[in-house]
Amino acid sequence: MAKLKLGPQALIYPMPTLLVGSMVAGKPNFMTAVWGGVACGEPAMVSVAIRPTRYTLKGINENKSFSVNIPNTKLVRETDYCGIVSGSKADKTAKCGFKVFFGQQSGAPLIESCPVNLECVLYQIVELGSHVLVIGRITECHISEECLTNGRADVSKIDPIVYITGQSQYLDLGKVVAKAFSVGNEIKG
Ligand SMILES: Cc1cc2nc3c(=O)[nH]c(=O)nc-3n(C[C@H](O)[C@H](O)[C@H](O)COP(=O)(O)O)c2cc1C
Repeated sequence: MAKLKLGPQALIYPMPTLLVGSMVAGKPNFMTAVWGGVACGEPAMVSVAIRPTRYTLKGINENKSFSVNIPNTKLVRETDYCGIVSGSKADKTAKCGFKVFFGQQSGAPLIESCPVNLECVLYQIVELGSHVLVIGRITECHISEECLTNGRADVSKIDPIVYITGQSQYLDLGKVVAKAFSVGNEIKG
């Protein structure tokens, strides 16, 4: 198969669609972020690449805490809006009609309508270039009761938004292709 070189590009497919929240000037603010993911298992940690100009980052620096909310596909309009308008210009929480609640961290506003909400304390900010990598330790994970099956998080009920870079598209989860930690046994023997 012929291969072409595209230069250094972060073409990772797919990306999760997240709403990162912080308290800025005493008010909850949320920004869309897709450059994020799991950073560590024990302790549980997340990382999000954020441009230094983001209003949300102000709140993360001020309070040393933030939230990561997982919107479902019903919230795709609100999610996109939080990614095209800055909290420095509008009250995005009011505009989206988000009902906000708090857990242990007063600096981590959580969106009720998002099925999963992670409360994080700031662990470290690493300056990398165009973006800083915000690493947070997860202190609590909230999940909507209706998204559980037999007491476990059920991703088909969570219905998260998948982001595809390049095409700038939001997708829902596709079909299951195989069972993980299992299908490889067909080669392992
Ligand atoms: C689909 C999508 C993904 C985005 N991902 C990121 C990201 O990972 N990091 C980032 O800094 N900005 C990202 N943005 C841009 C910010 O969400 C946007 O600049 C937002 O207005 C910042 O809000 P704030 O100024 O209230 O913090 C994304 C925007 C969209 C629409």
